Amino acid sequence: MKYYITTPIYYVNDRPHLGHAYTTVAADVLARWRRSKGEEVFFLTGTDEHGAKVAQAAKNANQNPREFCDEKARSFKNAWQRFGIEYSNFIRTTDAAHEAAVQKFLQALFEAGYICKARYKGLYCQGCEQYKIPDDLIEGLCPDHQTKPQEMEEESYFFKLSKLEKDLEQKIESDEIKIRPVERKNEVLSFIKSGLKDISISRKNVKWGIPLPFDAEHTAYVWVDAFLNYLTGLGWDGSVGEDFYKLKTKNQKLDFWPPDLQLMAKDIVRVHATIWLGLLLALKIPPPKNFFVHGFFTLNDQKMSKSLGNVIWPEELTEKFGADAARFLLLSFTPFGQDGDISWEKMAEKYNSDLADGLGNLTSRVFNLIEKNFDGKIEATKSDLDISYLMKDIKIYESLLTIKEKIEWANKYIDENKVWELVKNDKEKGREVLSRLLGAIVAIGEALAPFMPKISEKILARAKAGKIKKGEILFPKIV
Ligand code: MSP
Repeated sequence: MKYYITTPIYYVNDRPHLGHAYTTVAADVLARWRRSKGEEVFFLTGTDEHGAKVAQAAKNANQNPREFCDEKARSFKNAWQRFGIEYSNFIRTTDAAHEAAVQKFLQALFEAGYICKARYKGLYCQGCEQYKIPDDLIEGLCPDHQTKPQEMEEESYFFKLSKLEKDLEQKIESDEIKIRPVERKNEVLSFIKSGLKDISISRKNVKWGIPLPFDAEHTAYVWVDAFLNYLTGLGWDGSVGEDFYKLKTKNQKLDFWPPDLQLMAKDIVRVHATIWLGLLLALKIPPPKNFFVHGFFTLNDQKMSKSLGNVIWPEELTEKFGADAARFLLLSFTPFGQDGDISWEKMAEKYNSDLADGLGNLTSRVFNLIEKNFDGKIEATKSDLDISYLMKDIKIYESLLTIKEKIEWANKYIDENKVWELVKNDKEKGREVLSRLLGAIVAIGEALAPFMPKISEKILARAKAGKIKKGEILFPKIV
């Protein structure tokens, strides 16, 4: 079984932030879990490097855009390394192969009659790199960027998205393309039903972009360029129609197409469900099977924002807690799909209670008792801990809760049986209880593997050693 999972590609105008880490860690957890079930997984992430916003950021940094992008792409890769992310490919939209494929695709779209030239006038938000309609704005400002969109009028090429309205509606409605949580599906559907307009897909005034193959005075709209990463990330060369299938027989990676799961936050589901799906349907490329849309993180109940000084950088999190605990903490505050709030205090508290006092204490107590009283030798009794039915459903948070309950059960089981006395008074009963606890630890260690790969490895190595030892502390308390 093949499984293809993607994250959005992140804009390089800024350094990686916690919101980016959230999606990427979640994708990595899902990818690792699928791999552990024996599936062949392709996990794609990367960076979105063209457009006015990135060009402006490069200018502000006094760098040429290419150098600027190289540096930023590196900082994303470094961040993901710190979190132990194992992606299959890191795609950059400035890769020559990506640029060539985008051109080839746009030429095909043009030839298929899906592109026409027109004048456009509207309100453009540079933060979103999107035109806004008055209904999108709150008191005249873009709600995501708190800035006033600029009046813009330009001659540009349009993608005839309106032609695909019915097709999109039918495929989303019927769950052929499944959008979850269902509220997001409904939101997208009502947007589509309100009528899709053709959209401008080229910019004359943006030089930092991919030139249109049929009119080099224009560059491709950054979102169109960006969406195609999901294809070029597999080594697709822009082929459509029969050539797409021919390429598939030559290129093993393209066999992963279509995506089984595309993750994104709620801010970008609408563009994905309209422009991205529209581009595919127009040229009859099989569309993705699932979108899963997660919520937004706030910090101390405020939007994370650099200007407010209200940010946690990903590296601060891994430095303070270590990679595995940072992964765990990111995912354990909110059901995946809902908005959630975090703070340093809440994270430290959770780290101490769930990891230091919970999991860390459990393993050190059990391993210590086995080492001291049974010369490190005890058979584990098999213990059940099933999270598959949850993980299949992308219930990441609920999976962690289930594991946490097992840890709590085991710690209570030690206390209730007063195992430290039992091993002195009734050695056989003590052995039985400890072997049940050891089994629980093995099950917990295995279930935690996708979430905390290194810690899980440590726990399992200790639990399965010929001679069990207490070993070093897994989670030093944080004060
Ligand atoms: N480049 C586009 C996406 C193109 S995909 C073809 C983009 N980039 S972005 O850098 O702004 O990143 C957006 C993504 O970052 C969101 O969809 C989400 O995955 C993540 N997040 C950004 N801020 C976030 C929070 N505060 N909370 C959770 N995730 C958020 O849009």
